Amino acid sequence: MDVQRLVQTAQALVADKKGILAADESSGTIKRRFDSINVESTEENRRNYREMLFRTAGVADFVSGVILFDETIRQAGADGTPLVKVLSDQGIIPGIKVDAGTVPLPGAPDEVVTEGLDGLRNRLKEYVELGAGFTKWRAVISISDRTPTSYGISVNAHALARFAALSQEAGLVPIVEPEILRDGDHSIERCFEVTEETLREVFDQLAQQNVLLEGMLLKPSMVISGGSAGQRATPEDVAQMTIDCFKRVLPSAVPGVVFLSGGEPDNSVTANLNAINQRVAKYGAPWQLSFSFGRSLQGAPLVAWAGKAENREDAALAFYTRARLTSAARQGTYVPEDAGNSGVS
Ligand code: 13P
Repeated sequence: MDVQRLVQTAQALVADKKGILAADESSGTIKRRFDSINVESTEENRRNYREMLFRTAGVADFVSGVILFDETIRQAGADGTPLVKVLSDQGIIPGIKVDAGTVPLPGAPDEVVTEGLDGLRNRLKEYVELGAGFTKWRAVISISDRTPTSYGISVNAHALARFAALSQEAGLVPIVEPEILRDGDHSIERCFEVTEETLREVFDQLAQQNVLLEGMLLKPSMVISGGSAGQRATPEDVAQMTIDCFKRVLPSAVPGVVFLSGGEPDNSVTANLNAINQRVAKYGAPWQLSFSFGRSLQGAPLVAWAGKAENREDAALAFYTRARLTSAARQGTYVPEDAGNSGVS
């Protein structure tokens, strides 16, 4: 295991002002995104859309790494340049989603487990050759009256740690993503409870499987009230509960946290990230608290692009603007009024 390389990559991914673009939608998910703008999900459309994102001028000021899907890491842009090179030429680290998605967990109604460990060691070797510097694996935990069970949490945590250990063996920084879904009307206190139990189990498994904490990143959800809760918690409450929860269970050797956006509306997820970093500025925290957003960085550019080449510049501007605002929130300097100004500063 190349410890120095792992530590350097992990730190570079959470460099000052920067975070990660998650552009690793699986075939099914990108089809759903394209359906929402009435665009057919062909290989060429997927390439054109993602190439537009990756070539957005100036975005490397805010984006340290991009998570790719298997198709994209092998794809070339319209002029034949591999998309991995388009990113690395700008100093952006290419990463790769290596899980194979979720399946129902036998013996646990309403719960899922993430697959993809079979043959992973060999796949990782190939991804290193293709230019990846890091990997991602997403486990999914839902909150309801009956879930999660400790069985559901433990099998998912075990798989996350297996993935992380194999990634580090290959020289790749694992992004360990236990997503707690926002679906439901649960309180922020219930989310805190589930997040604490989940992260405790995840870090227990990571320790048992000898994962180097300094050479990984955690990609969690924020501690928030359920998406359909009657009264949603304020950004200040989210910041306090999220950091208080992490203090209980997240070892300080982990260099950074890169939150997912989880389908939370852009203004709310950006305000929450901002409040978290304002709290850090006031009271301190041992980890960088950054982002690895999919929807919250891509929602606006996807709509602006609408599958048309002539909209490329507008879409790139929409992406640049979301990246700039998210970077501001990552520093605790986001001003909501900025959201209305689409100009490139
Ligand atoms: P969202 O930010 O859209 O939740 O996506 C992040 C991600 O990579 C989910 O695995």
